[in-house]
Amino acid sequence: MALDNLRAFIGAIDAAGDLRRVSRAVSTRLEITEISDRVMKSPGGGPALLFERPTSDGARGSNIPVAVNLFGSASRMALALGVQRLDEVGERISELLNIKVPEGLLAKLAMLPRLAELAKFPPRSVSGRPACQEIVIRGDEVDLGRFPVPVCWPGDGGPYITLPGVITRDPVTGTRNVGMYRIQVTGPRTVAMHWQRHKVGAAHWRAMAERRETMPVAIALGGDPASIYAASAPLPPSIDEFLFAGFLRKEPVRLAKAITSDLDVPAEAEIVLEGYVDPAEPLVMEGPFGDHTGFYSLADLYPQVHITAVTMRAEPIWPHTIVGRPPMEDFWLGNATERIFLPLLKLTLPEVVDYHMPAEGIFHNLVFVSIDKQYPGQAYKVMNGLWGQGLMSLAKLIVVVDKDVNVRDPQEAWWVALNNIDPERDARFTRGPIDVLDHSSRAFTYGSKMGLDATRKWKEEGFDRAWPDRIVMDTETKRRVDAMWRELGIER
Ligand SMILES: Cc1cc2nc3c(=O)[nH]c(=O)nc-3n(C[C@H](O)[C@H](O)[C@H](O)COP(=O)(O)O)c2cc1C
Repeated sequence: MALDNLRAFIGAIDAAGDLRRVSRAVSTRLEITEISDRVMKSPGGGPALLFERPTSDGARGSNIPVAVNLFGSASRMALALGVQRLDEVGERISELLNIKVPEGLLAKLAMLPRLAELAKFPPRSVSGRPACQEIVIRGDEVDLGRFPVPVCWPGDGGPYITLPGVITRDPVTGTRNVGMYRIQVTGPRTVAMHWQRHKVGAAHWRAMAERRETMPVAIALGGDPASIYAASAPLPPSIDEFLFAGFLRKEPVRLAKAITSDLDVPAEAEIVLEGYVDPAEPLVMEGPFGDHTGFYSLADLYPQVHITAVTMRAEPIWPHTIVGRPPMEDFWLGNATERIFLPLLKLTLPEVVDYHMPAEGIFHNLVFVSIDKQYPGQAYKVMNGLWGQGLMSLAKLIVVVDKDVNVRDPQEAWWVALNNIDPERDARFTRGPIDVLDHSSRAFTYGSKMGLDATRKWKEEGFDRAWPDRIVMDTETKRRVDAMWRELGIER
């Protein structure tokens, strides 16, 4: 059974012994961060936390608990998506991608159940009052100050909503997008929306601004864990995240009509902020914000969202995450994406065996790729291919190794790569779009990239020396030492 909402997810985490309830009063100003940071830095990502008595400096405490680090381990990420191992999702996708329409009627009929599985996934509208609208607050009654929105780091520009699903629609195609973008609370009924220029929400906003139309926006907090994850996944703009979440859950996501716009919102959300962006209005300063690079991202201009209504459950929970020096909770969300998207990557680059973005590389700074090299120059083909795909285009350093290297072990990948390169020969520089958060590029979001061909070099690639083998002990010796190991008295 798929988990339908945040409280079910928290319940399942609790049942697995992986939740710590913090009943002592803790300030939303910095204290939640410091506690969560220590937890997230522990081996394996630490437990999930539920702060039951968040307080703020302005004396107004909140009776809304704050949940942190729900997705912050391999096992909780798997729990969120209803699998034992994240690779299972990738395997399901591979199976769907491998569908070849067979010859013969009987074989075709045998395929139907698999196709029917797809048809079950579209989001479904609920009838009656949805859970996310048990309480409805409209217009001037809205006061975001009553919610426990944390101030994460000392240099932050204000309180931040950090784990939302931001729902927008393409004005031309009508396709929905759900994106996870941090949101700064700037007033009782205003927020600043940090959708970066390469993201789909920003593209919708540019399209609306071009048409001079007011843009409806809904900000969902909570909902089923697969939908929360899907908001962070780099899906192509044509794919609705709620459809993808339905595929992950093997059950449709349930949606309800918003109260003040015609957007659909997750019926099972804890809280929904409804509002709009007026493209005629000047942008507002957003930031600084202690970011997942481990550095502050500087203040910059972003659109302001006016909140027209807040709808919520009678006793909502506030989902939150912190970002900062890695590793943090977002590593595990990104790690799920890495595993789930491997088969999709192989569709266009079939020689890719595996890839990995280690935590220190904060996703876009470092990508290790192993390939089944079959012809000279293939490492360059792969790095160029990666730089041509979606958010992979932002990758700053791509290191390509042979298929026998375990790229999920960065120590092994660096060890082999650094042995294998002649830097001048094997490094290639190119230019392209750079992540908004990169503080070092020559210009904002534009700069250079480096590819390292760390594969074994071939004669056809101009290498005419002998290439040595890795050192590996022979199995017979290993067997003899295994047999004598305990007698040696080395291990106590
Ligand atoms: C915790 C967290 C915070 C994020 N914050 C932002 C953000 O502030 N702005 C942004 O553009 N992307 C942010 N991202 C990355 C996007 O969620 C991610 O690129 C996603 O694919 C965007 O969806 P889209 O492709 O539908 O635009 C964040 C991701 C996570 C996990």
